[in-house]
Amino acid sequence: MCGIVGFTGSSPAAPVLLDGLERLEYRGYDSAGIAVVSREKGLQIQKCKGRLRTLRQRLEGIPPLEGTVGIGHTRWATHGEPNDVNSHPHVSQSGRVAIVHNGIIENYVEIKEFLLHKGVRFRSDTDSEVIAQLLDYYFTGSEDVLDAVYHVLARLEGAYALGILCTDEPERLIAARKDAPLLLGYGEGESFIASDATAIIAHTRDVAYMEDGEVAVLTPDGISVFDQYRRPVEKAHHFIQWDVSAAEKGGYAHFMFKEIMEQPEALRQTISPRLRNGEVVLDELDLTDEDLRRFQRIYLVACGSSYHVGMLGKYNLERFLRLPVEVCLASEFRYSAPLVDERSLVVVISQSGETLDSMAALREARSQGGYILSIVNVVGSSIARESDSVLYTWAGPEIAVATTKAYSTQLALLTMLGLYMARKLGRIDPAEYAAVTGELTLLPGKLETVLAGTDTYQYLASRYFNRDCVFFIGRNLDYALGLEGSLKLKEISYIHSESYAAGELKHGTISLIEPGTLVVALATYEPLFDKAVSNIVEVKSRGAEVVALTTESHRERMEKIATHTLTIPDTVTPLLPNLGVAPLQLFAYYIALQRGCDIDKPKNLAKSVTVE
Ligand code: G6P
Repeated sequence: MCGIVGFTGSSPAAPVLLDGLERLEYRGYDSAGIAVVSREKGLQIQKCKGRLRTLRQRLEGIPPLEGTVGIGHTRWATHGEPNDVNSHPHVSQSGRVAIVHNGIIENYVEIKEFLLHKGVRFRSDTDSEVIAQLLDYYFTGSEDVLDAVYHVLARLEGAYALGILCTDEPERLIAARKDAPLLLGYGEGESFIASDATAIIAHTRDVAYMEDGEVAVLTPDGISVFDQYRRPVEKAHHFIQWDVSAAEKGGYAHFMFKEIMEQPEALRQTISPRLRNGEVVLDELDLTDEDLRRFQRIYLVACGSSYHVGMLGKYNLERFLRLPVEVCLASEFRYSAPLVDERSLVVVISQSGETLDSMAALREARSQGGYILSIVNVVGSSIARESDSVLYTWAGPEIAVATTKAYSTQLALLTMLGLYMARKLGRIDPAEYAAVTGELTLLPGKLETVLAGTDTYQYLASRYFNRDCVFFIGRNLDYALGLEGSLKLKEISYIHSESYAAGELKHGTISLIEPGTLVVALATYEPLFDKAVSNIVEVKSRGAEVVALTTESHRERMEKIATHTLTIPDTVTPLLPNLGVAPLQLFAYYIALQRGCDIDKPKNLAKSVTVE
């Protein structure tokens, strides 16, 4: 959740930290703070409730913080309400130690009681403050801050990415990681830590990913990394491929809109390298044909929109492979004693690669003997690193909290995985295989045509933006697509919205339909088009206004029935949702815009959910 950045170099730290935090704000944005240390001035800390701009304003009114070493934090509150005191960095009672923390310390109550008995006074309600206080407590008798850090880490239970400053060693920045993302950046005479690469990409693309249990000591001249037993570790360096503009708005009003518009290009990045002479080629897969034959069951495990990709994937994979596919919410799967064994293929889908529940589900599946294949966007993320094979979506950085291009690319990649496996196993009709792979190459272009006109969505938004409740209905792929359309709408516009399998309407939901109720009816799935029409007629005859989405070839018929008709180009059935999602994203976007919502940073949400 929270975002962390740290810097040590020869230039003032504060501007580097603020710039980094700005790029990390999507991870949490209820408060922000920075700490800078220097030998002359000691620790200088500024932090406050609210967005980063509030912190910037505060800093503009005071003399610049002096020092070339510092840490910064943007918060998504877990323990302790968002206020100035609970904001990070947290400082120890003596004022010697400052820390920023992402994660949750599960045994903080026990540590707090221990320290209270020792006479330590706490200022905040957070779990994180115990880290600073405990560090100071242990440091009293140590010669090296690092000794104290190792003492503290041995006592912490839970998850943490940590940035640590100490006035006794003001030239050093110490970092530690367990179950929360943290990477190291290697610059020219400067070193960085960050929750993700967007925070430091303006300074360096040379990064290394910290592993659980590792501790790093950063100076301007370099970074030393140690494992949990304090043995030196040689880190593998990675070069970030995308450039800084990919993580900037580039003239768009919102990241979400930019990312919606980037989808055709993102799909090209995902699809083109993996489609050669009409064949799906997944070089990254570390699976033999024999391995493929071993799998008796596939689990698709994820959270949020990634779970919705799984919902769609179930239809497509079962269709191609004729194997049972279970779609599981990671938060449920991890505690459900899943029936995974060595005949199970477990596909973990995650944009960030850091979602805690997905990570825990992965480990649970692994412990039962399942083969773990992940579909991930963020290169080098925890889920990617713990998987047996990774398929990267290569969508580029996604900043808006509400996912769009990551969803689209995950979906395309999962479909390609299904095609690949079905082909290898000889389970797919060659004609269907050829038709779907052929259409995959046309997909980005077709999506461009869907995204070309936004007037209709602006019009619909102006008409429906003040509704309290919206229903999405659909069957088969359209049902799964409706789940995503409904989520997009509620997360950025705060309108109550629900998505139902249209066949379930008569089992309850239809009692909520009254004159003027807005129903978004999805009717792209050709085999059940007539059934979709019947459901539209049913809700219309009870007074609903219906925005229907169908394919170009059904436009005429739908226009006679629905209040408004939206269309997508025709394509093969398995790829329909890849086109159908764009109108739903634009519909949600323009409604949120009309309602004056903070589209890129919706209230209470964060992009990367690294707590349970
Ligand atoms: C958060 C994001 C969603 C995302 C979900 C799962 O809720 O706001 O957009 O779908 O986490 O994230 P992941 O990174 O695992 O795909």
